[in-house]
Amino acid sequence: MQVKIIIGTIAFMLTMIILGFAAIREPGRLEDFTLAREGRQIETGARLYHNQCATCHGVNGKAEECYDAATGESIGCQGLPLNYNQLLCGDTSARMSALNWEGSKLAFIQATVSSGRYGTAMPTWAQEYGGPLRTDEISDIVQFVLNWETEELCSQPLFEYPWPETIDELLVTFPTGDAVRGEELYTTYGCSGCHGNLDDSTSATVGPWQGNLAEEAGTRVEGMSGAQYVYESILHPNNYVVEQCPNGPCGDSSSMPTNFPARMGDSETKPQDLVDIMTYLGLLP
Ligand code: HEC
Ligand code: HEC
Repeated sequence: MQVKIIIGTIAFMLTMIILGFAAIREPGRLEDFTLAREGRQIETGARLYHNQCATCHGVNGKAEECYDAATGESIGCQGLPLNYNQLLCGDTSARMSALNWEGSKLAFIQATVSSGRYGTAMPTWAQEYGGPLRTDEISDIVQFVLNWETEELCSQPLFEYPWPETIDELLVTFPTGDAVRGEELYTTYGCSGCHGNLDDSTSATVGPWQGNLAEEAGTRVEGMSGAQYVYESILHPNNYVVEQCPNGPCGDSSSMPTNFPARMGDSETKPQDLVDIMTYLGLLP
């Protein structure tokens, strides 16, 4: 009898200890579960990203290496960098401030992907707005994009080059251009995606063909040199909007992106890219 009571008591105490231990572990288990779910989302998102987004935003999200989805050929990137401190770092990232977004970063990216950007090459993706992807697929891609936010990315300081008013002032700091490098950059930055290739006047799809820009540029704005006009067109495309684009009047559909000052000015040395591209276009010696 005595023994039974002792065994009973021990069994009871053991049960309580085990239950108590399980209760303490519960939040940890929930966390593991959430992490596992996020992990699966990121994996699925990576696959979807590779198939749908890499053609324009690049395989690593840096808008540097893009391939035609159908042929696998290397093409110019039309999209902006996404694996990018200006988009991903800080509660309100630089891109969110630039576009006056007041909600969270997740909501910013989710909304951009779902509805696209009207008037740009960024398509609508959500089925509810006529795109090809389900809501859960969009969430997966968004998790994948957010996962690029790392300490390393965000420890690179945000830098904004103080662009001078004139190309002549810029040339004081960056006196020589490299046309060969400029040709590569013309593709990397996606210029060729909209303006086509300089050697084929029928290859431009969205913006005016630039094979004859060296002659045309000086005639666009009275009293302004061709080099100054092109400099301003790249940095402040809305200052002068060209009339005729390949698909009709410019400004009706896709327009020239306005964030090249940020992309070509995110380090002390990056403005060299602009000088190289202008050299390639024949506007600088
Ligand atoms: C046909 C080319 C194209 C494809 C495909 C594409 N994008 Fe874009 N995307 C763009 C362009 C161009 C922009 C810049 C729009 C602008 O000027 O504001 C952009 C902008 C974005 C932005 C906002 C970036 C910022 O800094 O404001 C996000 C986020 C984005 N895209 C995500 C995606 C995702 C995710 C996919 C795949 C589901 C995708 N894009 C597919 C062309 C594309
Ligand atoms: C998303 C498409 C797109 C991309 C990418 C793009 N542009 Fe444009 N660009 C346009 C359109 C559309 C216009 C005409 C409307 C305007 O003048 O703003 C234009 C106009 C210009 C002009 C004025 C042309 C003229 O005939 O007067 C220059 C110069 C220019 N772009 C250079 C560039 C360079 C250099 C790049 C790459 C660094 C680039 N663009 C990337 C669409 C684009």
